[in-house]
Amino acid sequence: MQIASDDSPSQTPSNPYPFSVAPIGDVLGAEVSGIDLSQPLDSATKDAIYAALLEHCVLVFRNQSLTKEEQGRFAENYGELESHVGRLRNGKRYPIINNITNVDPDGKLVPKSVNRGPNHWHTDKSYHAKPSAITMLHGLEVPSEGGETQFVNMRLVYESLPPELRARVDGLTAEHSWEANRRNVGETPATPDQIRERPPVTHPVVRTHPDTGTKALYIGTHIDFFHGMTRAESDALMEELMDFATQPKFRYDHQWRVGDLVMWDNRSLMHRGNTNYAMAKERRVLQRTVIIGTVPF
Ligand SMILES: [Fe+2]
Repeated sequence: MQIASDDSPSQTPSNPYPFSVAPIGDVLGAEVSGIDLSQPLDSATKDAIYAALLEHCVLVFRNQSLTKEEQGRFAENYGELESHVGRLRNGKRYPIINNITNVDPDGKLVPKSVNRGPNHWHTDKSYHAKPSAITMLHGLEVPSEGGETQFVNMRLVYESLPPELRARVDGLTAEHSWEANRRNVGETPATPDQIRERPPVTHPVVRTHPDTGTKALYIGTHIDFFHGMTRAESDALMEELMDFATQPKFRYDHQWRVGDLVMWDNRSLMHRGNTNYAMAKERRVLQRTVIIGTVPF
């Protein structure tokens, strides 16, 4: 772990961390400076980063330069790396450290603005029995404008729900699946092998954070339906909750710079990639690592 001597602040009551943490959004997110993530972390710094993540939900580390191996080593401070059931457009399985990108395997940019799975509001791998705890994206190539990763503070959303709506989601469960996700976002349908590999799972619609005890609304495009209601009722409730949750007042939109490492807590957030950039002209390549979480409760 390296902390530059000219910008390593003393720990104070207002800054309990051994590095600089400056809020970056109105309702979530902080920029962390003074750490080179390509270097091994000592345990105090590792733990302090996790504490800052729990507090701010999204951490942004600027000016990093991480190989796949270095990013993997940083990620593994926080748990086990997670693989993906999806396949690349050439049919091959995603490498465990893979890129979120508009560049196809043949090197061509997608021909026009398209909506792929990551461009719809979701929390990572909620179709797993143990969904992702933490995701990290590293900006290798970024568009000159647009292409933000947008985050919603689902703790704040839950706290802010009108009482009538909160009463409807408390105690409710939902069925999540890869198959439903493919259908909901209009992607290539899940194959029989993928459906066998990732059968549907049930999760609470309000989940409790395993480390902080805070409650958050837990929804997204991986949900097939809410239990105990008709398809029409379920779809209507999903639309109402999504409309409420995605209001700008609950969001932070991250505008990428080359070198950013953005780390977020899926247990408190929903996110998506914005398609508002010149997708057919500019490259957007974000190197991804994901850490397996625990069973939601
Ligand atoms: Fe995602």
